[in-house]
Amino acid sequence: MANALRQHQPIAPVDAVPRLHALLADDMQAVNALILQKMQNPVALIPQLAAHLIAAGGKRLRPLLTLACAQLCGYRGAAHHVLAAAVEFIHTATLLHDDVVDHSNLRRGQDTANAIWGNKSSVLVGDFLFARAFELMVDADSLPVLRVLANAAATIAQGEVQQLQTANNLLTTADDYYSVIGAKTAALFAAACEVGGIIAYRPATEIIALRQYGMELGLAFQLSDDVLDYTGVPGKEPGDDFRDGKVTLPVILAHAAGDVTEHDFWQRTLGNEQFADDDFATACKILDKHNALAQAMEHAQNHAQAAQNALAIFPDSEWRHCLWAAADFAARR
Ligand code: IPE
Ligand code: IPE
Ligand code: MG
Ligand code: MG
Repeated sequence: MANALRQHQPIAPVDAVPRLHALLADDMQAVNALILQKMQNPVALIPQLAAHLIAAGGKRLRPLLTLACAQLCGYRGAAHHVLAAAVEFIHTATLLHDDVVDHSNLRRGQDTANAIWGNKSSVLVGDFLFARAFELMVDADSLPVLRVLANAAATIAQGEVQQLQTANNLLTTADDYYSVIGAKTAALFAAACEVGGIIAYRPATEIIALRQYGMELGLAFQLSDDVLDYTGVPGKEPGDDFRDGKVTLPVILAHAAGDVTEHDFWQRTLGNEQFADDDFATACKILDKHNALAQAMEHAQNHAQAAQNALAIFPDSEWRHCLWAAADFAARR
């Protein structure tokens, strides 16, 4: 790793995604064209609703990772474009469903599709995008790739269902939490990275390393997302998780360190969803008192480091350097 640092200027975490976009501009143009093409449909509501979310941008982090992992593996074909588009379609479909389940009103800086068109339309257009993702996967003409991405799609749904069962439950453990985020978020990152190696016919050790990289990066990404739900991030409403009774790692850590009064507070709010106006501010104060957000960020950084360690078997290259920085970005955004 010291080599990588000697040969390349360090990339600040915040620059990792812009750098990938710059290096992969032509590929991403092809991916975006595929996305636009595949969301077309004679039933006008489908492209209208899909475009509302897709045109609002998003980081496109997952397709960037698919493309970058394929490049890291020296891939020279064109199947990475359909795969990157498929991965982004799966992500977009899960966002449409997730905002219904989470009662979210703001995404990518604008009203959510469910806030505009209602839950039914959001769920059904989400289903449409899922189905289109499978068409794109088939176009890659690789059964192993199909197996990995189909498994990821099922695992995301599993994680979202498991999360329903931990909601409002203050007995939720850190292990339970990790099981949820591993499934709902990290599984897609893992698959997005792994397929880049599969299409390049790399040996199993490298494919396993890419999967490990994506999995660890995905854990870091969701851990920091759950911290940002308390501290605020542009484009999303802070406090969604709290109002929804989600028991995320910061809450688990603060609850474990809290006294009876604090336990009563968490039970009334997250447990029973009985909220007063200043409860979110109180929750933030309790998290701060126990250093719970900083501790959760430390978890995120440990997973980012594990992601970087997984890259160690690859020879030094600009791609490895960018993927290294992307792991930092996941934990420090
Ligand atoms: C949001 O993912 C869903 C989570 C897993 C936290 P992103 O933060 O990658 O969303 P966009 O695509 O950039 O909007
Ligand atoms: C994201 O979890 C999970 C999936 C999109 C499957 P969150 O519910 O935390 O994501 P945001 O905060 O709504 O983006
Ligand atoms: Mg959500
Ligand atoms: Mg969130």
